[in-house]
Amino acid sequence: MTDQAESLRQKILAAREKKQRVISQPKEESLVKIYAVVSGKGGVGKTNISVNLAIAMAKKGKRVLLLDADIGMTNADIIMGIHYEKDLFDYLAGRASIEEIIYDGPMGIQVISGGAGLLEMDQLSKEAQERFIEELLSLGGFDIMIIDNGAGMGKEALQFVTFAHEVILVTTPEPTAVTDGYRVLKTISHYGLKESVKLIVNKVPSTAVGEETFEKLSYTCNSFLSIKLENCGYVFTDTRLEKAIMAQEPVLLSYPNALSSGNIESIAGIILEEHVFVKNISTLKQLGNRFRKIFGT
Ligand SMILES: Nc1ncnc2c1ncn2[C@@H]1O[C@H](COP(=O)(O)OP(=O)(O)O)[C@@H](O)[C@H]1O
Ligand SMILES: [Mg+2]
Repeated sequence: MTDQAESLRQKILAAREKKQRVISQPKEESLVKIYAVVSGKGGVGKTNISVNLAIAMAKKGKRVLLLDADIGMTNADIIMGIHYEKDLFDYLAGRASIEEIIYDGPMGIQVISGGAGLLEMDQLSKEAQERFIEELLSLGGFDIMIIDNGAGMGKEALQFVTFAHEVILVTTPEPTAVTDGYRVLKTISHYGLKESVKLIVNKVPSTAVGEETFEKLSYTCNSFLSIKLENCGYVFTDTRLEKAIMAQEPVLLSYPNALSSGNIESIAGIILEEHVFVKNISTLKQLGNRFRKIFGT
């Protein structure tokens, strides 16, 4: 066989394999764990943490789906050097199939851009919502879904917090970020959405500052809210992370030995270790029910 024919054959095989991966029916008992990444203030590092956490988990053998849910400001694509041609909005408008809105990210992670489609979800007909849920579930084969939200607790973030099993709050040590982070916790507590929230303190100059930030927020939570704050760790301020952004590459891939990469890998380890033991993981069927609940079908 000529080299050209062989390369064509490989391409066809790869395309077929991709198609199969996408449309293979998952087993109903497959377990999926959903994490919503939120913050009070913008610019605290949610997107970088979501993308790199997804990669760190994939490196540890997990199949991860990342939902880029910051409407109008989606930038997980920029960090990964992906160009979304179609998003959830196109899918909902009937301009794209579910396969066409899933992008292959680094380390085998799969990425969907929510785009403006997220604003439309609760206005859809019951049939359209059912179709989306079923098609999304039919992607199957993922263990973890990470939802990178916009800043604050808007309607969409609130829906995803309700929908997710776990909430990861990202803050920096800055007083404004901490205060806004506390407001998010207050909202979650007010609606009784979660009993515990995970905290990642980003852009710390030292472990001591990370610890102090956690202690401060945790103390306030214990005193005034019915939420337990879980410490997942700290990510140092790291110029290599900024360099990686400039190169449109996640830091974990550009600089696997960078301080921030190490920090995020250990945070992934902490979160995944719990993943094994924590009871509240959903089967795909339960996941479908959660979707139905938040979109009111
Ligand atoms: N650990 C870090 N070290 C240095 N800079 C960081 C770090 N985390 C985030 N940044 C900076 O903060 C900016 C905002 O990060 P991003 O992940 O887009 O935040 P968000 O999604 O919360 O708005 C990045 O472009 C980067 O310049
Ligand atoms: Mg962001």
